[in-house]
Amino acid sequence: MNVLVTGGAGYIGSHTCLELLERGYGVVVIDNLCNSNPKSLDRVRELTGKDLVFYEGDVRDETLLRRIFAENDIGCVIHFAGLKAVGESVAMPWEYYDNNLNSTLVLTKVMKAVGMKRIIFSSSATVYTADNEMPLRETSRTGGCTNPYGWTKYMTEQILSGMAYADGDWSIALLRYFNPIGAHESGRIGEDPRGIPNNLMPYITQVAVGRREFLSVYGNDYDTHDGTGVRDYIHVVDLAKGHVAAVEYVDSHQGCEVFNLGTGVGYSVLDMVHAFNEANGLELPYRIVARRPGDIATCYADPAKSREVLGWTAEKTLQDMCRDSWRWQSTNPNGYGE
Ligand code: NAD
Ligand code: UD1
Repeated sequence: MNVLVTGGAGYIGSHTCLELLERGYGVVVIDNLCNSNPKSLDRVRELTGKDLVFYEGDVRDETLLRRIFAENDIGCVIHFAGLKAVGESVAMPWEYYDNNLNSTLVLTKVMKAVGMKRIIFSSSATVYTADNEMPLRETSRTGGCTNPYGWTKYMTEQILSGMAYADGDWSIALLRYFNPIGAHESGRIGEDPRGIPNNLMPYITQVAVGRREFLSVYGNDYDTHDGTGVRDYIHVVDLAKGHVAAVEYVDSHQGCEVFNLGTGVGYSVLDMVHAFNEANGLELPYRIVARRPGDIATCYADPAKSREVLGWTAEKTLQDMCRDSWRWQSTNPNGYGE
């Protein structure tokens, strides 16, 4: 089967293309490279020894999408393409709603027209409200997002689940990712954020490689075991394998299902710093600073449904995540851009 991967040159997309090729799927990528470098796809080819088809273009371009479906026998779509920086979404709401919502609307319009109705969507734990009990289950409360990025994920879930409700031919998996970190163990592909990283692990690795002076730890007065924020970090290769499991699932089921992709275990910011130091024999400089607005104390998944229904479980350890993140950053200090 050929899988169309939108945003396939990006961080999670490139790792998923690799796992799909390894599992014998054909891969067709559409990416406008607004937040990625096509070298990621060259490296996927190099690592797998297999080719994939790449179209440089925008998912909102209906003519191009129709051409892609005409030229390739697509059996499933994984829709990663989108803008993902929370702070930027507050400053540029229109661009976020336009990109993230219109890409899904144009994509599903073309899918309806060609009669191929299997899609996997990149959602986020950010759709859960802040007042839920932990761990978060797929049935936990959603909505009340605090930024346009979060709303685009929430709204896209509404759009896709409404389509499945109205038309029983759709087969849709909404995957709510927790905190993806790490890189392929080869160190050849990984996360390459533009500008100053917002997320914890890319910031840590950029400090370690000397691109930043120290890590700012946002608050140590949360109600957690050491006062710093707790999150459910998941290795990107485990996450990619979750997508392969979802491709198999949508191929054999109809309707719309939500799945958490997390480990079920939470680690604090200081746990992460210590684990990173231990895994790599480093001593990361850090300073405790004020809380970051909008952050919550604790967030972790109940991954039981993914285990039971998709047959998928995260297997990699925190040590793997820290070691692989560092292997990628230390061997590619400027990401793909050197
Ligand atoms: P990424 O930015 O590395 O990948 C997204 C890719 O989509 C990029 O290659 C970008 O160039 C492309 N793209 C964006 N808009 C496009 C458009 N209109 N047409 C074609 N290509 C377009 O991000 P990622 O971390 O790999 O995230 C992938 C998806 O997962 C995103 O939808 C993101 O919101 C979601 N997600 C990510 C995280 C995370 O922490 N990384 C967590 C939850 C959900
Ligand atoms: C972020 C996004 C969220 C997205 C999630 C998964 C924000 C506000 N939220 O959440 O929408 O779904 O990633 O990708 O960006 N931290 C530091 N110093 C840093 C960076 C982070 O102490 O320089 C702390 C944070 O306060 C938090 C933890 O590290 O406690 C993780 O932060 P981050 O990687 O940004 O992820 P989330 O806050 O979970």
